[in-house]
Amino acid sequence: MATTVIALLALVVPIWGLPPLAPTQYPGVYQLTEPVDHAECPSWDYRNNILYYVNIHEGQVYRYDYDQGNLAYITLDGEVAPVIPSSRDPNLLIVGLDRSVAAVEWDGVSDPSETRILAALAPDFPTSRVNDGKADKQGRLWIGTMGYEGPDGLTPDEGILYQVTCNNLDSPLIEIAPINISNGLAWNAANDKFFYIDTPSGQVVQYSYNDETGEISDRKVVFDVNNHTEHIVGGPDGMTIDEDDNLWVALYGGGAIIKVDSSNGDLLEIVPLPALDVTSAIWGGPDLDILYVTTSRVSLTDEQKLEQPAAGAVFAIVGLGTKGRPTFEVDILGSIDDESCGAKIALRS
Ligand code: BGC
Ligand code: CA
Repeated sequence: MATTVIALLALVVPIWGLPPLAPTQYPGVYQLTEPVDHAECPSWDYRNNILYYVNIHEGQVYRYDYDQGNLAYITLDGEVAPVIPSSRDPNLLIVGLDRSVAAVEWDGVSDPSETRILAALAPDFPTSRVNDGKADKQGRLWIGTMGYEGPDGLTPDEGILYQVTCNNLDSPLIEIAPINISNGLAWNAANDKFFYIDTPSGQVVQYSYNDETGEISDRKVVFDVNNHTEHIVGGPDGMTIDEDDNLWVALYGGGAIIKVDSSNGDLLEIVPLPALDVTSAIWGGPDLDILYVTTSRVSLTDEQKLEQPAAGAVFAIVGLGTKGRPTFEVDILGSIDDESCGAKIALRS
């Protein structure tokens, strides 16, 4: 059996409320933004050095311009996740909205366009909502849903992972169902493996992936949080992958992001963060060597909020000694009023 080598990077933990570590003490965790309720689904547009993320329940789409150093947001009419720019127009954003896939045009300066609904999701589960999603190399959108999550817990088995393309907007393809909380997604460098997380399972699973057809097959578990309870707690949430095909998995309820070898499931590193609920991560920066990590404060008690004033912020982790690969953009529409996909236009009031 392979031995698990764990580097617990305890030194990187900034003390609550104190400035980040000196640049010599790499890796360093920096707080990039003010906290919001539930920051999630970061994506990086390497064409313009833009970090996008959402504040799900408030319907907010955030845009951080790395070169200008400014942050702007728009508010959509519904719960929003994820946000992914389009391949043919960087200002055309594809978002999940309540139980739909939608498009909005926004350059971070001008007023956004009206939101155009492209496809309906999960019609049988009217209290469910969209959660994480990503584009594959062909520009298909993989987007998941989850059942209603309230004070009494989660409505189980109401999540679905869809594949949405220009050709199936009337009836998006169901890839995996039923699931509980559709979360992290990643593809390896060779683009023949797809990694996926249904949070309550505690597992990261792997499928063989056929990029030409978009088909997944041969499911197997690569990592299970429940096998590492001496070191980590929480549920695996969003994830990203680095240039060496190691997975970086956010631990919701675990106060950390972990590095996992996707080839054998070894837990390689644990990077603690000053927020209990770590939601997702993406590689960004001009050299793709900054790990941007989103966090949440929505489930914290009042006491926990006082102890974790930065919970809900986006953090930038530098000096991790590795970097990411550019992620993919969605290729569904060329412009907001492009009809070539045969999408039905339904403008939200
Ligand atoms: C969801 C949360 C959920 C969490 C669990 C997130 O992606 O948005 O509602 O509690 O996953 O890990
Ligand atoms: Ca998530």
